[in-house]
Amino acid sequence: MTSPIDPTSTSAWAALTASRAAFTPDLRGWFADDPGRVERLSFALGDLHVDMSKNLVTDEILASLIDLAAQTGVAQRYAAMLAGEHINTSEDRAVLHTALRRPAGAAPALVVDGQDIDAEVHEVLNAVYAFAERVRSGQWRGVTGKRVTHVVNIGIGGSDLGPVMVYEALKPYADAGIHALFVSNIDPTDLAQTTAGLDPETTLFIVASKTFTTLETLTNARLARDWLWAGVEASGAIDGDAGSRTDAVAHHFVAVSTALDKVAAFGIDPANAFGFWDWVGGRYSVDSAIGLSLATTLGPQVFSELLAGFHDVDEHVRTTPLRSNVPVLMGLLNVWYSNFLGAQSHAVLPYSQQLHRFAAYLQQLTMESNGKSVRWDGTPVTTVTGEVFWGEPGTNGQHAFYQLIHQGTRLIPADFIAFVNPAYPLEDDGRDVHGLFLANFLAQTKALAFGKTAEEVEAEGTTGPLVAARTFAGNRPTTSIFAPALTPRVLGQLIALYEHITFTQGAIWGINSFDQWGVELGKQLAMQIAPAIEGDADALAAQDASTRALLEYYAAHRGR
Ligand code: F6P
Repeated sequence: MTSPIDPTSTSAWAALTASRAAFTPDLRGWFADDPGRVERLSFALGDLHVDMSKNLVTDEILASLIDLAAQTGVAQRYAAMLAGEHINTSEDRAVLHTALRRPAGAAPALVVDGQDIDAEVHEVLNAVYAFAERVRSGQWRGVTGKRVTHVVNIGIGGSDLGPVMVYEALKPYADAGIHALFVSNIDPTDLAQTTAGLDPETTLFIVASKTFTTLETLTNARLARDWLWAGVEASGAIDGDAGSRTDAVAHHFVAVSTALDKVAAFGIDPANAFGFWDWVGGRYSVDSAIGLSLATTLGPQVFSELLAGFHDVDEHVRTTPLRSNVPVLMGLLNVWYSNFLGAQSHAVLPYSQQLHRFAAYLQQLTMESNGKSVRWDGTPVTTVTGEVFWGEPGTNGQHAFYQLIHQGTRLIPADFIAFVNPAYPLEDDGRDVHGLFLANFLAQTKALAFGKTAEEVEAEGTTGPLVAARTFAGNRPTTSIFAPALTPRVLGQLIALYEHITFTQGAIWGINSFDQWGVELGKQLAMQIAPAIEGDADALAAQDASTRALLEYYAAHRGR
């Protein structure tokens, strides 16, 4: 295992510390004095146009950040990941989600731990596409011979957030009359409300779970199976004996997992199970068979374009020097804000209703990856890590939390994401509504960067204490990500961009961004507390005073 390089021990860190001490952000001045700033800080990444000019950096700071990436070995770590080294040290695994989007026949072939990775990836991908086509064409039928109209993905975390986010983003591409729905929460409301109104005879469940042990997913899968049996038996379609029940499951349940033995134990026909591998982390798995609901509803063509978008960015990261490597630069900006300017969170603000689940997706990607206090060799981190990612689409956010970003006391770097062409080109009284939408995106980034001085406020006739209230300090950093349209390829590029931003930050901090031990304790305790909920006196007595009191409250109010 190579030891992480302590970023705080590098000469680049020392240079950044000195820059910080003498730093006064001045976007107004920098823009006025430097006509080349926008061009110098704008980059193409596939179809994405990324404008970083409204960030709080000078050329000198950026150069030191790039030195930091070089001195902490970001490029070497990326090469190690691509080569299949076991950089997920705590689980002794390779990290190869980038292999999921390598085109067929890519050379040289990727062989890791004796596995022909490319061959295995494309074998599963072909099976996913073949299955999707069967469902889309109506060749696959439910147990009573009806076509599938609804696909319900049952999964949680990475087995849910990616598929639901992509489905919402690319819904305009759904062309086969098949709708996707998603159940994740063990709150029974989720399953009950999602299945309400569905016809069991035309519903297909995809049980998506990397481990096939996740409490939420397996519970929901059993509830869904009961719902299916109850529905088809009530309609008289099947008689309810064991054989017909097995048959119903075979027609209405498929699975995606790395644990195909457990899938079979659940009763799903192994012929209808799609595998993946332990070298794909859950939050990096939307481009694996976990995307089965997407291939089915949006089609294999759309899914393969999505993969091509991911690959565009992988190639960019692999072949582009640090100084113009877009995900690396964005990761470095985040390090600057977190470690030197004290930012604790990062907003992602898509000007696209289709991306309304993007921030939720990014929360798992970034925070489950980099929310760590130890480095990959088990030693403590040497600096602050893992900012809080959050966001909502514009313009909704403008009417909710932008006040704090504009005039609050916290520094909140924000990424704005927008698309030139809309999926739905509607007009209001002859006015292009999407144009109005984009005007808001441009206005917000402008207001955040340049603010409004007291003199400007006074020049509008405001006097007294209202002047201060109406003044905007500016120097609130943003990155604008603009693309011609939200196509499958563009979405793939966008997701991969954030994967590699996350990677860059993790590499600099010395973090293993691919494990998630922090979710384990709560899972274990839930299993210890469940008997107490069910009335076990010993389990109740074993709890701490607060938990015991809450359990007693539960018992006292149950059924009311
Ligand atoms: O919450 C932890 C986690 O392991 C995530 O990393 C993962 O995406 C999710 O649970 C679901 O896991 P699985 O796909 O194995 O059901």
